[in-house]
Amino acid sequence: MNHRSTDDRGPVIRPRTLLLALAAGAALVAPTVLVAPAANAAASTLGAAAAQSGRYFGAATNSFMLNGQHATILNREFNSIVAENEMKWDATEPQQNGFNFTGGDRLVAHARANGMSVRGHALVWHAQQPGWAQNLSGTALRNAMTNHITRVAGHFRGQIHSWDVVNEAFADGGGGGRRDSNLQRTGNDWIEVAFRTARAADPGAKLCYNDYNTDGVNAKSTGIYNMVRDFKSRGVPIDCVGFQSHLGTTLSSDYQANLQRFADLGVDVQITELDVAQGSNQASIYERVTRACLAVARCTGITVWGVRDNDSWRRNENPLLFDANGNKKPAYQSVLNALNSVSGPNPTTPPPTTTPPPPTGGGCTASVSLNSWNGGFVATVKVTAGNSAIRGWTVRVALPGGTAITGTWNAQASGSSGTVNFANVGYNGQVGAGGSTEFGFQGTGTGPSGTPTCTAS
Ligand code: G3I
Repeated sequence: MNHRSTDDRGPVIRPRTLLLALAAGAALVAPTVLVAPAANAAASTLGAAAAQSGRYFGAATNSFMLNGQHATILNREFNSIVAENEMKWDATEPQQNGFNFTGGDRLVAHARANGMSVRGHALVWHAQQPGWAQNLSGTALRNAMTNHITRVAGHFRGQIHSWDVVNEAFADGGGGGRRDSNLQRTGNDWIEVAFRTARAADPGAKLCYNDYNTDGVNAKSTGIYNMVRDFKSRGVPIDCVGFQSHLGTTLSSDYQANLQRFADLGVDVQITELDVAQGSNQASIYERVTRACLAVARCTGITVWGVRDNDSWRRNENPLLFDANGNKKPAYQSVLNALNSVSGPNPTTPPPTTTPPPPTGGGCTASVSLNSWNGGFVATVKVTAGNSAIRGWTVRVALPGGTAITGTWNAQASGSSGTVNFANVGYNGQVGAGGSTEFGFQGTGTGPSGTPTCTAS
């Protein structure tokens, strides 16, 4: 099969690149040659291309696949992974209170070693329950569920970008209601209990509801939409909705509009299990899904459900971006081109809780988004570099009186109350021009309300 390389588009100079080059030129007093900064060249891998707009591009994998060609492609192309099976209830708690994290730990270690983030999939689901859980009901099942979430999310605490806390709890068909299951029969509040339990176990992870057949505005997606709206109005800690996107040969024309209506509720949206039946439309459907995500500021990343066609649960449909020989398919190229069509952080990223002015001329800025509840909060801080790459940063945050920090991730805190300086750790000090990184902290009391100051080094 003949594939265009990413380089045969030639150098791409986009308006932003030109502005930067002109600004640099002015500073240097009329250079004769304008060279586009490398950060703005078309990226040649999915992960790097997605990172240009602050998104991730991930793949589902299994620890037994972390070798040979699968691992070569995974490590080269993707900057996020999700466990296809090894973090599910049957895999992690095969006997009640007997936990097995072997596969999940291997995946997390692989991700850390290769600079990837990890999606956690899935804490509770009516399927893939171990036999002992299938036989439980009522209070015993509810207690087993909260214990499972506490232990599993607690084990991986600080290592998971987003957890699918609850998977596939809504019914297919026209009703828009919940799916019957042993969990549902413990009471309609089981989903919010699951989210509250997950927040307590890993306050730094984004907490997602994840489902399929939600690829447009339909009865099922509307049922989920109503649940998310209700959760947001009552302070149930939900941060994101996953759209699995196991697609056939057509794509609903309101795919993007559906993502947007969820984003408008104040949650992130993620494409979590994308695969598309092979057919004449495969490349264009992949491209449309990618462009839909790019067009929705709160669509923070895309995950494909496997690497090569022969790795897939739908292998008869050849639904992935690489063929069984590891070759890039036309769908790969369409996704890469779409990702490369957006340069720099998404200009439509929604305003965080505090909005700093856009950085100009080097330096950095920081903005905070808060998840608060009565007596506590989790703060996620986005550090954005200005027009120059930075090698380190310190963010100064003023905490209200009575507030105390109880945990910090991806940064080193100078103290736990009053004015606290958060310095980068070894792996996240370097941020490219216009790029960003995140750290977070949790605490008791009230979260910070002012705009933090960021100092670059
Ligand atoms: O590990 C056992 C093995 O010991 C046994 O010999 C073999 C015999 O069938 O089964 C193996 O388990 C299989 C497991 O995958 C690991 O390979 C299960 O039977 C099989 O049902 C399971 O399928 C997974 C399925 O979820 C159910 O958990 C698929 O790989 C996985 O792609 C699929 O993923 C789901 C998402 O979690 C949720 N959304 C839909 C998506 C596709 O169904």
